Amino acid sequence: MNDNGTQTTEKPKLATVAEKFAELERKNAEAMILGGEKRIDSQHKKGKLTARERIDLLLDEGSFEEIGRFVMHRAKDFGLDKEHYLGDGVVTGYGTVNGRLVYVFSQDFTVFGGSLSETYAEKICKIMDLAMQNGAPVVGLNDSGGARIQEGVNSLAGYADIFYRNTLASGVVPQISAIMGPCAGGAVYSPAITDFIMMVENTSYMFVTGPKVVKTVTNEDVTSEELGGASTHSTKSGVTHFACANELECINHLKRLLSYIPQNCEDTTPLVPYEAKSRVEEMRAGLNNIVPENPNQPYDIREVIEGVIDEGSFFEVHKNFAENIVVGFAHLAGRSVGIVANQPSVLAGCLDIDSSTKGARFVRFCDCFNIPLVVFEDVPGFLPGTDQEWNGIITNGAKLLYAFCEATVPRVTVITRKAYGGAYDVMNSKHIGADMNYAWPTAEIAVMGAKGAAEIIFKKEIDEAEDPVAKLKEKEDEYTHKFATPYRAAHRGYIDEVIRPEETRFKLIRALEMLENKVAKLPKKKHGNIPL
Ligand code: HXC
Repeated sequence: MNDNGTQTTEKPKLATVAEKFAELERKNAEAMILGGEKRIDSQHKKGKLTARERIDLLLDEGSFEEIGRFVMHRAKDFGLDKEHYLGDGVVTGYGTVNGRLVYVFSQDFTVFGGSLSETYAEKICKIMDLAMQNGAPVVGLNDSGGARIQEGVNSLAGYADIFYRNTLASGVVPQISAIMGPCAGGAVYSPAITDFIMMVENTSYMFVTGPKVVKTVTNEDVTSEELGGASTHSTKSGVTHFACANELECINHLKRLLSYIPQNCEDTTPLVPYEAKSRVEEMRAGLNNIVPENPNQPYDIREVIEGVIDEGSFFEVHKNFAENIVVGFAHLAGRSVGIVANQPSVLAGCLDIDSSTKGARFVRFCDCFNIPLVVFEDVPGFLPGTDQEWNGIITNGAKLLYAFCEATVPRVTVITRKAYGGAYDVMNSKHIGADMNYAWPTAEIAVMGAKGAAEIIFKKEIDEAEDPVAKLKEKEDEYTHKFATPYRAAHRGYIDEVIRPEETRFKLIRALEMLENKVAKLPKKKHGNIPL
């Protein structure tokens, strides 16, 4: 039709193929700079990289395939009079890390502060669906001001779509979140459902409500760093598993983490090359000298871990949180294992609320993804006191117990020294499904420590003695000899073998080889009800 409403015969001129190619080039170039050079400079000045630079660091060179580069946000629908950014604030796609497929989304702070819109959420959901269908990890590089304010409920709906998928994907494919900028509101809840969180010191924050809202509501003055910086979340709250000095370190940690874990819940753990060695070659004499003569003297359980595993392979998780338990990945004869170990040098290795939660979460991750568990035990019990009781050590301690009970992966325990009371049961005992339980000759497996036990069961004799102090000592020694040894448990078969420390590495390698095809099934159920 022309202006007069009469029919015209003139057809619109079709672009030539060359023009179409040129348009594609232009659009591709536009999508590369996203929020513009000024905002990119500002990102760099803060010591932060852009969404694309982060992807380049993460993935094997040339392996990235972008999905949804030309997705356009619906800003106009929301009365937003702004430039239209191609890609809408998040770069999504797939590629490889050390040759293994991963799906990735990288939020772009230069576009509306990385805030999440409807289309942005759709892009993330698309790659999460692909990851679940194709069985590969999802890595989220997060840098976002939360829900895009202008989009209201559409943005909230987008978040909920992501949370739903995070939950469905949990236990199906590994999900890892790197927090590389300020993440507020909805931007923290998706990472919270994922398996691991990494943060960058000084440039990343996580909070549900920022310092300004905190000031208004509670009148507290707190900086972003204090409220939700990497050091707060790696030491106080335990929200983050890793605090990294800078973005490069963060990405390197991410790659290292991926190297220990399978692609999905039906995959086996990746193997690193290892040449089988003889029993003699696998002896580690240094392990014989770690546990001190005095049972009350601390030592660093990391020395035991490092002595047993393949050299330099320990990758500690949650290093600065609840340090009375040590967890992390390692290789044993080239095989990935999850290590859970009491730490006698912190709180004497007692289990408390935080260490139980930390241990439980790690055990469950390993169990989801077929990573065998190796437990080193030296635990005098649960931490007593009103603080622990009032804050729920009963419920929280039960998390670790529950996590071990339901784990069906190969499970091996080595008791290096104390295994007292309920903590003996909890720390991967035979009774709750461990496959192989070893004890060093220094192991003390008993209801409680010798002094406390002697004071209770020999109270009358001690009170009536001419020298109660000497009597207590005598009874303590008697108790230690009789009860606080590994042999009573070994006589019952609760301990499979009492071994010299130097043999530990070889014994564990053999045990894990033997358990390689373990099949254990839980009773049919919808799902269990872990005490939360
Ligand atoms: C839209 C946003 C935005 C948001 C930031 N921007 N947050 N746009 N929606 N949520 C835009 C800014 O307008 C600005 O645009 C650019 O991003 C950079 O923001 P600045 O404030 O200049 O940066 P900075 O000083 O570094 O501060 C970053 C920040 C702050 C800490 C993230 O912007 C902030 O507090 N934002 C709001 C956080 C928040 O409360 N989000 C909603 C949470 S509620 P220009 O054009 O100037 O570059 C939520 C609900 C979901 O998420 C709940 C589900 C459970």
